[in-house]
Amino acid sequence: MNARSISEIYLDDIESRGYTVIHNAINKPLLARLMLDCYRINPDFSLAGIGRKNELQIDKTIRNDKTFWFDGTSDAQLEYQALMEQIRITLNRTFFLGLFDYECHYAKYQRGDFYKKHYDAFKGRSNRVFTTVLYLNTPPSGGELIIYKPKSKEVEISISPQAGTLLMFESECFMHEVLPAVDERYSIAGWFRKNTSISGIIDPPR
Ligand code: OGA
Ligand code: MN
Repeated sequence: MNARSISEIYLDDIESRGYTVIHNAINKPLLARLMLDCYRINPDFSLAGIGRKNELQIDKTIRNDKTFWFDGTSDAQLEYQALMEQIRITLNRTFFLGLFDYECHYAKYQRGDFYKKHYDAFKGRSNRVFTTVLYLNTPPSGGELIIYKPKSKEVEISISPQAGTLLMFESECFMHEVLPAVDERYSIAGWFRKNTSISGIIDPPR
């Protein structure tokens, strides 16, 4: 599916409920190349931090997956970023959001790895507006993503990772968690960001 046909589906969902789940959003050859990219950089995955890239804290009781921030060293990364760029432009055009950047990392969950309930953004404290997650493989079991209803402990949706499924949700609205992985699970988590300037200091893109 190309970015144009993706957008026709997701915009209504985002407008009405703040999230969307798009199956087969990414073509199989690109998925395969992203997976190969993960194998290539496998030794460089490192324990994930909590918070923005440059203010990371490592707390293994909250999450213990391993991540690798995109560094633009493969065509697959560049192609994925180009797709996200098209989505960024579409989101801005539709919702007048002023999203200026997209940051993303690969994430690897091995047996037992989890990410407890969290928000990706806190009102006024982050410039993350939309979270994206793309699943790169289809683990036979485990590693479900549970998304909670806004301001509630009730489950909105439970998603079993499937290669090619892309989801997007409003970062400030949805608490979510990744249940312990059973089989190895690869994904790309990313964030569309808006510029938040505090006291005249422009938030840098990285
Ligand atoms: C994250 C996250 C969800 C997933 O990385 O912040 O919530 O399903 N990921 O991998
Ligand atoms: Mn998250």
